[in-house]
Amino acid sequence: MTESRIIVALDFPTATLAEQFLSGLDPASCRVKIGKELFTAAGPDFVRRIVALGFDVFLDLKFHDIPNTVAGAVRAAADLGVWMINVHASGGFDMMSEARVALEEVPGTRPLLIAVTVLTSLGEDDLTKQGILCSPAEQVVRLAEMTSEAGLDGVVCSAAETPLLRERFGDGFVLLTPGIRRTRDVRGDQKRVVGPAEALAMGSTYLVVGRPITQTASPAQALREFNSAAAGDC
Ligand code: C5P
Repeated sequence: MTESRIIVALDFPTATLAEQFLSGLDPASCRVKIGKELFTAAGPDFVRRIVALGFDVFLDLKFHDIPNTVAGAVRAAADLGVWMINVHASGGFDMMSEARVALEEVPGTRPLLIAVTVLTSLGEDDLTKQGILCSPAEQVVRLAEMTSEAGLDGVVCSAAETPLLRERFGDGFVLLTPGIRRTRDVRGDQKRVVGPAEALAMGSTYLVVGRPITQTASPAQALREFNSAAAGDC
């Protein structure tokens, strides 16, 4: 298990590309995130291989279904040996708490279980269309409250939301933040970005970093820089 607070998003279309990329990284220097695209293309055996290489794997499949189905999915994910799993908080309190209970049956160290609150791609207009008559920020806090009450370990959130959530839920609550860029990094489609040191100072526990590490000539060097910034060395 690594101490690094950087989770590299393996946003690759195939197992081959992801494994080529990982051959240049040390499992002691980062954690990795496998999302829907790569998991759908590469499957559970690929996840087992990455776990066997020694990487802490965040399986970012954002489960959202009836409680019994999500509990089964979470159990199956835990059987792969992953470090972290997530669900959609909007699936409801019962869905989250049954998923959490399912992890009690896992032998050894159970994976962390976190929730997505409001997708950052949704604005106030989108919520209004869903009949949710409050701001995204208010809805984030409401769903984070439900996540905490259901016994989950934390939430995915934007850097802007971290100070409030950290204050409200305390130090033990995991806050996982994407949208991280160094000053010189290309923003890509990320509209609001923060630097690694800044994000941690604002209260994030883990930082999800994709393209600034995966789409560069020297991923190991980029990762070293993110780790140093996260450790407050630069
Ligand atoms: O390449 P980049 O650093 O922008 O990648 C960020 C990763 O975090 C991607 O895997 C993306 O899907 C994920 N993510 C995000 N924003 C969210 C939730 C997840 O960028 N609100």
